[in-house]
Amino acid sequence: MTAGNRFGSSESVRRRSKTSCLPFMNMIKLQFLVGAMLAMEAQGLEFDYRDALEKSLFFYEGQRSGKLPVHQRMTWRGDSALVDGNVSQVDLTGGYYDAGDNVKYQFPMAFTITLLSWSVIEYEEEILMAGQLQFAHESIRWATDYFLKAVTGPTQIWVQVGDPYSDHICWERPEDMDTPRMTLQINETSPGTEVAAETAAALAAASMVFRASDPDYAERLLDTAMTVFDFADSYRGTFHGACPFYCSASGYHDELLWAAAWLYRASNNTQFLQYVVDNSTLSNDVCEFSWDNKHAGTQILLSKLYLAGETSLEPYAKQAAAFVCHVLPRNPWSQVSYTPGGLLYVRLGANTQYVTGSSFIIVVLADALAHANGEGLMCGNVLYNSQDLFAHAKRQVDYILGANPLGMSYMAGFGPKYPTQVHHRSASIISIHEITRHISCGEGFMNWFPSASPNPNVLVGAIVGGPDINDDYRDSRRDSSCTEPTTYINSGFVGLLARFLREEN
Ligand SMILES: *[C@@H]1O[C@H](CO)[C@@H](O)[C@H](O)[C@H]1NC(C)=O
Ligand SMILES: *[C@@H]1O[C@H](CO)[C@@H](O)[C@H](O)[C@H]1NC(C)=O
Ligand SMILES: *[C@@H]1O[C@H](CO)[C@@H](O)[C@H](O)[C@H]1NC(C)=O
Ligand SMILES: *[C@@H]1O[C@H](CO)[C@@H](O)[C@H](O)[C@H]1NC(C)=O
Repeated sequence: MTAGNRFGSSESVRRRSKTSCLPFMNMIKLQFLVGAMLAMEAQGLEFDYRDALEKSLFFYEGQRSGKLPVHQRMTWRGDSALVDGNVSQVDLTGGYYDAGDNVKYQFPMAFTITLLSWSVIEYEEEILMAGQLQFAHESIRWATDYFLKAVTGPTQIWVQVGDPYSDHICWERPEDMDTPRMTLQINETSPGTEVAAETAAALAAASMVFRASDPDYAERLLDTAMTVFDFADSYRGTFHGACPFYCSASGYHDELLWAAAWLYRASNNTQFLQYVVDNSTLSNDVCEFSWDNKHAGTQILLSKLYLAGETSLEPYAKQAAAFVCHVLPRNPWSQVSYTPGGLLYVRLGANTQYVTGSSFIIVVLADALAHANGEGLMCGNVLYNSQDLFAHAKRQVDYILGANPLGMSYMAGFGPKYPTQVHHRSASIISIHEITRHISCGEGFMNWFPSASPNPNVLVGAIVGGPDINDDYRDSRRDSSCTEPTTYINSGFVGLLARFLREEN
C-alpha cells in the first residue's frame, strides 16, 4: 500500500492549478488592428494530421465507463461500473474516466466536452472530410447522455462517482473494480457553481453540435443547459468534493461567464449576451486555459463575436489580446515559459493540456481575425498577424507529434516512437478478454504497475502529460505527471488537427 500512497499523492499534484498571471498586466493597452488581410502562406506538412485526428478521437473509447456499444473499436476494453449510482438509487452508468484512474469527475468531464464540442463547431467540415465526424459525435454523446442522467432535478446534479482515495491506492482494471463507488451530488444546500456552470457550458456547446443531425436531442441539451445555468447562477458556492484532486483555484466566475457565453452562442438569447456584458469586469487577465481556468476561452469565444460586429464585447477582445501576448514568447508582455525545444510550459503535471488548450483557442482567434480582415494584434512593439498565430500553434502541435529534441511523439500509438508506459490502469494490465479472472488492487500494484515492459494495451491516441521544462521525458508509469493522459488534453487537439488538415488543400 505504500506504493499506492506515494502514487496517490503524485496524482494529486498533477491536478494542482493556480491563477498565474501578474495582476499589473491588467494595465497594458492592447488592441486588435483591423486592416488589410495578409496573405496566408501554406505550411509544409510534416506529420499525418489525419491519422493523429482519428487517433485523438479513438482515445475516448478507452476512457469509456459503463456498457460498451457493439461497435466499440478499442476492443481490449470491456464493460465496467455497471451499477454506478446504485447506492443512491440513480442510474449513473456511462460517462468517462478522467485520466489513468477509474473515478468519474464531472467537472473535468464537462470541460472536456465543452472543448471537444467547440472543436467540432469550429472545424466540422474538416472533421467530416477526414471521415471522423461520426466518431466525434459519438465521443461527445457518450458524455452528454451521461450528463442528462446526472441532472436529476432543477437543483440537483450528481457530480462524482467513485472514491479517489481508495481508487488511487488501487491498481485495477475498471472491469474488475471493487473499490467503493460513492456518489456526490450538488443541490441548494451544497451548491457547486463551477461544476454546474461547466455542465451548462458543455450541454449548450453540444447542442450546437447536434443541432442539424438530431434537433430533438439538441433541444433537450439546450433546455437542460438553461436549467443547470439557473441553478449555477442562483445558488453560488464552490463544491469541494473533488478536492484535492480537482480543486478550483480560479473560483467560479470564469465558469459562469463561459457558460453564459456558450448559452448565448447556442440559443441567440440576448439575456445571455447581457449577462456577459454586465459582468465583463469579472474576466481577469490570465496566462492559462485549463480545466480550472476558462477565462481565456470565454474571451476568445466572445472576441469572435466582437470581430463580427458585436461592439459591446470589446472588453473581452482586449483581454483575449492580453492572453495571447502573455502566452506567445518573445514579446514585451510574454509571461509563459517554453522548453529549450520550444514547447509551452506552464507547470509539471498534464502540462500538454495548457499546450493544446491555448493553441486551439489561439487558432480560433487567428481564423476570426483573418475572417474580419484583421491585420493582427500588437503586443507592445511586436505585431502578430494571423499567420504568426497559426505558425505558433502548428509548432506546438508538431512538437507533440514528434518535432522535439527526443524525436518522439507524445501520443500513444502515433509515429515510430511514442510513450509505452502510459500511466493508465486498464492499458497497463492485460485485457480482461485475455485474462478473464479478477485481478485485484494488490496484484495490479505488485505485478503490473512496476513492470519494466511496455503496457500490454496501447491506449491509441492518448496524449500524455509530456516532457519536463528541459524537454526530458522518462517513459515510466511511476512518473504520472509526465506519463498520464487526461480527457481534456485531447479535446482541443482535435480542433487543432482538423484546422491544420485544411492547409493540405
Ligand atoms: C444495486 O442494485 C441491486 C438491485 O437493485 C442490489 O441488489 C444491489 O445490492 C445494489 N448494489 C449496491 C452496491 O447498492
Ligand atoms: C445535498 O448535497 C449534500 C452534499 O452532497 C448532501 O449531503 C445532502 O444530503 C444533499 N441534500 C439533499 C436534500 O439531498
Ligand atoms: C442562432 O443564430 C444563428 C445565426 O443567425 C443561426 O444559424 C442559428 O440557427 C440560431 N440558433 C438558434 C438556436 O436559434
Ligand atoms: C452578471 O450579470 C447579471 C445581470 O445581467 C446578474 O444578474 C448576475 O448576478 C451577474 N453575475 C455575476 C457572477 O456577478
